[in-house]
Amino acid sequence: MKIIIGGAMGRMGREVTAAALNAGMEIVCGVDIMYSGQPMDIPMVTGFDLVEENADVLIDFSRADSLPEILTLATSKGIASVLCTTGYTDVEVARINEASQRIAILRSANMSLGVNLMEELVAIASRALADDFDVEIIEKHHRMKLDSPSGTALMFYDAVRGEKGKDTEPIYGRYGRTHKRTSREIGVHAVRGGTVTGEHEVGFYGNGEQIILTHRAENRALFAQGAIKAASFLSGKPAGLYSMRNVVKEILG
Ligand SMILES: NC(=O)c1ccc[n+]([C@@H]2O[C@H](COP(=O)([O-])OP(=O)(O)OC[C@H]3O[C@@H](n4cnc5c(N)ncnc54)[C@H](O)[C@@H]3O)[C@@H](O)[C@H]2O)c1
Repeated sequence: MKIIIGGAMGRMGREVTAAALNAGMEIVCGVDIMYSGQPMDIPMVTGFDLVEENADVLIDFSRADSLPEILTLATSKGIASVLCTTGYTDVEVARINEASQRIAILRSANMSLGVNLMEELVAIASRALADDFDVEIIEKHHRMKLDSPSGTALMFYDAVRGEKGKDTEPIYGRYGRTHKRTSREIGVHAVRGGTVTGEHEVGFYGNGEQIILTHRAENRALFAQGAIKAASFLSGKPAGLYSMRNVVKEILG
């Protein structure tokens, strides 16, 4: 499979390059605005408008503002695109949706196969346990993380809500609360400290029993491996908008 990597010199771009070469993929071009002719393992250009090669899939881990160039390249050459960059505005998301009518696009803010499988498990558990179990979500990240709760914790909240019903209510911490927990509540709590890469726990607390689903990210390589899986999934797919959930569903059969 021939691939193009956007943001190839960045932290994730380097991880994806290593994972793609390891998977036997042919990287026909890397794109990075910081490229200034230094020796690299792959052919490089400084902008998406300078890519001459064709490819089966483009994997992007650059910056949200490179989206117009990416979509111009991908739609003009008919290249399926795995968009892993985060921080798109609503206008940019609308552009992605529009482009997906012409090419296959997979977008996910969390490319980890494990996290996306856990989302599926959380949905199954929520469906099976319904109102008999209380659900509490706890996420932990390093002291440098700016936002809380994490986007992934909110993704798990949505998975629970999708099964338990719309009248569920997120409770972010319980400081100052003076009444008993209701079955509508889903606790969402953030811990910040040290160098924790990322940990998400979704706990189902019943009468005399507990089920705790936990995902621990140990390094960034897992996102690159997920992106490679996504590229293999997307190659040759018809135009449309896909997510990592589709990849997990295909693996589960
Ligand atoms: N979806 C996921 O699972 C996941 C996981 C990790 C990171 N990310 C996202 O991926 C993106 C990159 O993360 P990172 O940690 O590798 O960042 P980074 O800053 O290390 O790398 C980004 C690279 O993109 C390049 N770049 C910026 N604008 C460009 C443009 N217009 N054209 C070409 N190259 C351009 C930069 O020069 C840089 O080398 C971020 O948006 C991050 O949030 C997503």
